[in-house]
Amino acid sequence: MKFLVVGGGGREHALADALSRSSNVEIYSVMGKKNPGIAALSTDVYICDETEIHRVADYAEANGVEYAVIGPEAPLEAGIADTLAERGIACIGPRKEAARIETDKAFCRNLMRSHGIDGCPGYQAFHDPEGACRYIDEHDVNLAIKPIGLTGGKGVKIMGEHVDAAGAKNYIREIKGDVVLEERLIGEEFTLLAFVDGEHLVPMPLVQDHKRAYEGDVGPNTGGMGSYSMEDHSFPFVTDDDRDRAFAIMEAVIAALNKEGHPFIGFLYGQFMNTANGPQVIEFNARFGDPEAMNLLSLLTSDFATILVKMAAGTLTPADVTFAHKASVCKYLVPEGYPDKPQEGKLLTIGDYGDAKLFFANVTLDNGKYYTQTSRTLAFVGMGDTLQEAEQQAERAAASVSGAVRYRHDIGTMDVLDKRIAHMRSIR
Ligand code: AMP
Ligand code: GLY
Repeated sequence: MKFLVVGGGGREHALADALSRSSNVEIYSVMGKKNPGIAALSTDVYICDETEIHRVADYAEANGVEYAVIGPEAPLEAGIADTLAERGIACIGPRKEAARIETDKAFCRNLMRSHGIDGCPGYQAFHDPEGACRYIDEHDVNLAIKPIGLTGGKGVKIMGEHVDAAGAKNYIREIKGDVVLEERLIGEEFTLLAFVDGEHLVPMPLVQDHKRAYEGDVGPNTGGMGSYSMEDHSFPFVTDDDRDRAFAIMEAVIAALNKEGHPFIGFLYGQFMNTANGPQVIEFNARFGDPEAMNLLSLLTSDFATILVKMAAGTLTPADVTFAHKASVCKYLVPEGYPDKPQEGKLLTIGDYGDAKLFFANVTLDNGKYYTQTSRTLAFVGMGDTLQEAEQQAERAAASVSGAVRYRHDIGTMDVLDKRIAHMRSIR
């Protein structure tokens, strides 16, 4: 079977790696910049902007690709699934209209509200900056300020955390007003991803990303510095009831999309804030998370190609999906100065990384040597029977790299986990 993998980051390296563990699979790949990890697993690599969907479809057709799996959101927003379908190529990744669950934050909230779906915080959408600013003046509460469109995970500002009321209004004027203002949720975040075949959802282990650039969750937001998951596929600060409620919310969203005539085939990423009153939706993504894909696909023990084929056919069942009962920790190495002033073109040397898994992201391979680019460079995933084992494996691997890169030592440590448990206890 011929599969096309679209995208060139750590997430797509993990997708290609999981596919390469299936038998009878041939991988073709499309990416904006060559990822050496994906290239090593591919029969052929096409360097092309992933949003040039007609060129991508021409390439897929010319190579007899049967299934395409889409990593990033930008080609979904551009309608890659629609274009591939016109050429008879099955796409794992939703069509443009269903992808609006991620690409249009107002659409997402309106869908939840109009279908009476649980877990939707109070919100209001604005299309003029002055209206939004007036709302802030009239409501003396902390809000989350969210640009309506895609921002690569960097556009949200939280009042009381990143900005005060004056800063919030400046920001709204700076982004010219297409904005959703939301109730600020207090709690601990977790992510639940599901494989979706248009109708049925099969959940994956819970996972938690770390968006802030520096240890202790401070500094600017990034695409994600690393993520962890636990051997029981849950977290000590999430009860079974919280998890069931989160999953029920995701099922309701897929049912609502179906009712509106937009069936969703792909990976639904539910980001939740576990509050005093249970899980509330922070946002949905229409794709795997990056770095979360590296944790989850490393833990996947069943056949990924079979899962994708069944997703496309609408016949996925829970029996098709199994994950190792292990903890996992993913740590991203990023260029010094990332995200504001990343040091580009710097040599890095990878040492002995033991049993950890290595995933490449935004890195150049030239004459056997690796160089940084401007975004996240490469990541290691450690796995073990406990979080400590997984963390130590990832930490040792990350420490083996020398050069102008850094990473967060605290991701996956018990200290961070204990803080989350204590915070949850304090609000419940
Ligand atoms: P997003 O780009 O929607 O993933 O948001 C980025 C980050 O902003 C999230 O990971 C949360 O930490 C935070 N955030 C988003 N929405 C809210 C909210 N309504 N209340 C509190 N924090 C939020
Ligand atoms: N790691 C968060 C995301 O991929 O959006």
